[in-house]
Amino acid sequence: MALTILITSGPTREYIDPVRFISNASSGKMGKAIAEYALEKDCNVIVIKGPSVPIETSDKCKVIDVISTEEMLAAVKRNLKYADVFIGAAAVSDYRPVKVSKIKIKKDSDILNLQLIKNPDIIKYVAEHKKNQIVIGFALESNNLLSYAKKKLKEKNLDMIVANDVSTIGSNKSMPCLLFKCGKTKKIKLSSKENIAKEIINEAIRIFKNNNTCKKNN
Ligand code: PMT
Repeated sequence: MALTILITSGPTREYIDPVRFISNASSGKMGKAIAEYALEKDCNVIVIKGPSVPIETSDKCKVIDVISTEEMLAAVKRNLKYADVFIGAAAVSDYRPVKVSKIKIKKDSDILNLQLIKNPDIIKYVAEHKKNQIVIGFALESNNLLSYAKKKLKEKNLDMIVANDVSTIGSNKSMPCLLFKCGKTKKIKLSSKENIAKEIINEAIRIFKNNNTCKKNN
């Protein structure tokens, strides 16, 4: 039977007032490449995406557009039951403004203080509620990449994490390292996001079929 892959992709936006928001530079290219290769592998795909590159819908590919982290989480909650594999490629805004102004904020003062509150962690929710599902995350870091990625793999209870250098965001290429729950690691040479997507989906299918058993290297 065809596997169903649930993917989050792109950035989330947290509005401050009707015209301004907090977000990041995620283009959604990584999530799109993962969705397209999963379709080539005959999987069913559900993509929940923040504002980013378009992804074509089809009988086998459902695309749900969201704006904020809370909307992304709500869509994930509705669709998680259909997934065999969850892949969190989205660059989720970690914080949102405590108050959203209904009217455009005027630039009357030289300093404007914004109070932010932590957003829910979507992938952590997925890992806490999974039922025989594989959960794959990403880590995007400017420093201490592998140690932060290992920490996230453990703390978020993931099966695999794709550790990316910060230069990956918005670009067409990446050179990630895949870290697995069992301690195995796999470095991928600099290549297109389409090629990285193949590695991720092939590993996801392998982990799912092997019932999450893996042999640690070295
Ligand atoms: O979109 P592109 O331009 O193609 O770039 C791809 C990418 C660099 C955005 C992507 O491959 C990537 O690395 N995504 C994760 C970026 C990120 O925000 O990483 P993080 O280290 O902050 O988060 C770790 C994991 O937790 C991620 O799987 C993230 O989706 C998830 N998360 C984080 C915070 C949150 N509140 N909820 C989450 O689910």
